[in-house]
Amino acid sequence: MEEKQKELLELIKSKKVKVGVVGLGYVGLPLAIEFAKQGILTYGFDVDTNKIEKLSSGINYIQDIDDDIVEQVVAEEKLIVSSDFSNIAECDGVFICVPTPFTPSKDPDISYIVNASEEISKFLRKNQIIILKSTTFPGTTEEYVKPILEKSNLAAGIDFYLAFSPERIDPGNKTWKTDNTPVVVGGLNSISTELAAAFHNIVVKHIKQVSTPKIAEMEKLLENIFRSVNIALVNEMAQLCDRLGINIWEVVDAASTKPFGFMPFYPGPGIGGHCILIDPYYLAWKAREFDFVTNFIQLSAEINEDMPFYVESMVIKEIAKQEVALKNAKILILGMAFKKDVDDLRHSPALKVAELLTKNNISQIDYYDPYIPSIFLNGQKVHSLTEINSKLLKQYDVCVITTDHSAFDYEVIANNSKVIVDTRNACKNIKQRDNIVLLGEGK
Ligand SMILES: NC(=O)c1ccc[n+]([C@@H]2O[C@H](COP(=O)([O-])OP(=O)(O)OC[C@H]3O[C@@H](n4cnc5c(N)ncnc54)[C@H](O)[C@@H]3O)[C@@H](O)[C@H]2O)c1
Repeated sequence: MEEKQKELLELIKSKKVKVGVVGLGYVGLPLAIEFAKQGILTYGFDVDTNKIEKLSSGINYIQDIDDDIVEQVVAEEKLIVSSDFSNIAECDGVFICVPTPFTPSKDPDISYIVNASEEISKFLRKNQIIILKSTTFPGTTEEYVKPILEKSNLAAGIDFYLAFSPERIDPGNKTWKTDNTPVVVGGLNSISTELAAAFHNIVVKHIKQVSTPKIAEMEKLLENIFRSVNIALVNEMAQLCDRLGINIWEVVDAASTKPFGFMPFYPGPGIGGHCILIDPYYLAWKAREFDFVTNFIQLSAEINEDMPFYVESMVIKEIAKQEVALKNAKILILGMAFKKDVDDLRHSPALKVAELLTKNNISQIDYYDPYIPSIFLNGQKVHSLTEINSKLLKQYDVCVITTDHSAFDYEVIANNSKVIVDTRNACKNIKQRDNIVLLGEGK
């Protein structure tokens, strides 16, 4: 190890570094806060001026972060945020945490990574380490980020260091947080890996070093596609169980008693969020470049994306059994966030269910979700309830539970709804089940 590298490593270990975080969303802000909490001067950068204004006033906008901590680190000037990237030059390590969505035709859109890298390259200096954390296809760090950063006339792995380290944050998870969730790090060369690992070690206990950025990029896709494939499997089994009249939830619970070789996954109205839905398409796109078709992975994505259509048909069937005409029916959607107890609406399957139902000219489709105050479909605001009670619930022909928030009172919902389509087994503890139609129960 060269002298300058030893110095940087010592600086990191003694927590005397300055850190930069580019992109202050669900991933970037918690990470920036973790560093700032350690007393490390942390610069946060975001192109969203609303976010910068809020943070500058000490206002938090991420559900899992304590409001007081944001106020404190901003007041103490441990977290300094801006849309001006010039302070990048001050930072010893810079984390890139920008979005990686797909295009309307479901190809990867890495323009945010490209733009962030362009900004960083303007202020890049010797002996800095840049760590990409956005989930992306293998090759992004070496084939896209590296050449952009090298426009600075500095050489990656020599003048500055470069690594990929995927993010594992699970919003809403009360057990696994930044500090106790192991992190994988793969650098361009061994010194890049070592420095990136040391940087993470300030805020994370366990680091797994891998030999290349591509391994780290690919392992993140494996993690998320593993979930997508297993959820698809159980979603397909749920549809079969509906035909066979077998309760899939009891089947999964029974299978879960096997202490090895089985891990429970549960059916639902589809998958959402910024990761599991998108990531299979990132890999499928990269695979096509190598004349490889990821049949199995794509089939899983198809099955999962078909689930909102399946739920729509369940709801329509329940209306058909009643005297009300479809056009006069009243439907209440319970839960709009993409998963339990979070305020994230991105790619929510509940939103898709609402959109599909709207196309049936149904007279009234309302929703209730304490985490999601408003939604728009085709430019129109969807009516949202601010509370649910027995009187309100009785007005609807079908209530469909799309997100099983803990805040919902399932006793009140079950006792006062005409018919419930339960896509999450949220009413599992309800004894009187005549009005409950459970996905994958075959009732
Ligand atoms: N949300 C999760 O649970 C999660 C978990 C693991 C991995 N990831 C991955 O992490 C990445 C970030 O996801 P997220 O959920 O934090 O997204 P997000 O949309 O919540 O936050 C991204 C932030 O980056 C900002 N941004 C966009 N372009 C920028 C630029 N050029 N410079 C500076 N800021 C810019 C946006 O304004 C936004 O505030 C994605 O690749 C995602 O797949 C997310």
